[in-house]
Amino acid sequence: MSVWVDGCMNPLILGIFQYIGPNGTIGSAWQHPSDTSAEFLSIRHWTELAQKFEAANLDFLFLADSYGYPALAGELIEASVREGRGIPHGDPMPIITAMAAVTRDLGFILTTSTTVEPPAANARRFATLDHFTDGRIGWNIVTGSSGATAAALMGKDLISHDVRYDMADEYVDVNLTLWEGSWKDDALVLDKAAGLYADPDKVRLVHYEGQYFRTDGLLNVPPSPQRTPLLVQAGASGRGRQFAGRNAEAVFLAGGDPVVVAKNVAGIRESAVAQGRDADSIKLLVGALFITAPTHAEAVAKYDEMLSMSTREGAAAIYAGNTGVDLLALDPDKPLAQTSTEMGQSNLERYLAKDGTPAPLVRDILENFRTTGINGSVFVGTPHEVVDQIEAFVGATGADGFLIQPHLTPATYDDFIDLILPVLRERGLAPVEHSGQTLRERMFGAGPHLPESHHGRAFRW
Ligand SMILES: Cc1cc2nc3c(=O)[nH]c(=O)nc-3n(C[C@H](O)[C@H](O)[C@H](O)COP(=O)(O)O)c2cc1C
Repeated sequence: MSVWVDGCMNPLILGIFQYIGPNGTIGSAWQHPSDTSAEFLSIRHWTELAQKFEAANLDFLFLADSYGYPALAGELIEASVREGRGIPHGDPMPIITAMAAVTRDLGFILTTSTTVEPPAANARRFATLDHFTDGRIGWNIVTGSSGATAAALMGKDLISHDVRYDMADEYVDVNLTLWEGSWKDDALVLDKAAGLYADPDKVRLVHYEGQYFRTDGLLNVPPSPQRTPLLVQAGASGRGRQFAGRNAEAVFLAGGDPVVVAKNVAGIRESAVAQGRDADSIKLLVGALFITAPTHAEAVAKYDEMLSMSTREGAAAIYAGNTGVDLLALDPDKPLAQTSTEMGQSNLERYLAKDGTPAPLVRDILENFRTTGINGSVFVGTPHEVVDQIEAFVGATGADGFLIQPHLTPATYDDFIDLILPVLRERGLAPVEHSGQTLRERMFGAGPHLPESHHGRAFRW
């Protein structure tokens, strides 16, 4: 938890947000002459980025993912294809090992959905990745944004929102059963002379029988450095927060109004406490964009240029893909009539009346979404102005750190590293060094295994 000690805040956790596609959090930044994100299918593009983030001592690189894409009523949204917004989107898993091979400390958080593959396939993949990264892997557990298209692609019906989370609880438990329960720590002997690979008394089949998932079998990978990857989650609906309280060690939150973010932060901490965990057993990381330059005027010019690359049509396509709501088809002078969705709820709830504040009109929602994007906060100014804004935001929300979202790749990150990071370091807000090899140790200063207070420890053999 970001607390003030003797007038000082804890160093922030800083991760990078990317996905395997032409990037741009707000607008189609890939169109910019200096942006390289359209090279997302080149391995070198990724290895060079990973080396840059490692050299800056950032904590991790997060790769978002979804099988879904923006579509409405079974039809592709033209603006999405034309502007490269949500389409295309490659699989992030294969690139992790290439990046791990050229780095030593950088963590990697990989997204997979609980509605696509059987849980045992997920467990084996992450166990293997935990080895290949020397314990630097985390799992962003999502129930699938753009759920309608993802479900249709998989030949399935869209499962209703809360049931998706019920299923996700079980999905996580099957993974935990396999990771924590199949092998004892010292099962691997590797005695060539005796011909003894592993001790048969220390390897076993595990069984899990739930309402939605079951497994009878072996995690066919010896125990990895963390056993269970760092568990991360990113849905902030009421049911999402409950899921986080039970399962997550870190939560990615959308930024935006600090009052709303503070409520989400508090709600997730309360949910952890309700599950018998400490309030600070979950790190709260806020998605944010940092636009900076040596002078205020230059920073504002960069910001204006970014907004000029964000169209109403492109923004509406992303909104529709996430929530199922077509803002362009609604009366611009009325608030949203729909108050819930079986797709992503956070971006619908964001624009409903609350706490005595009237609901915004559709035209204002579209403009707000066009200029702030799916995940919220934008900090603009000179490095000192931005760090002042960061301090105020963290003080007001209790967040533990940020997920640095892309505008221009790599220029936005270069600006953060070259201009903002030194000021954060000056003020003691960014770590100068870190301890521990694994991602869990890096985030918590403890590990490498799940803490005792996490329910997953009950699956330990
Ligand atoms: C910073 C951030 C990153 C996210 N990354 C992903 C992702 O990679 N894949 C995905 O399907 N959803 C992602 N989401 C969306 C959430 O997982 C979730 O689908 C969405 O917020 C709706 O969940 P809810 O109904 O519980 O709010 C992200 C959300 C945030 C705020």
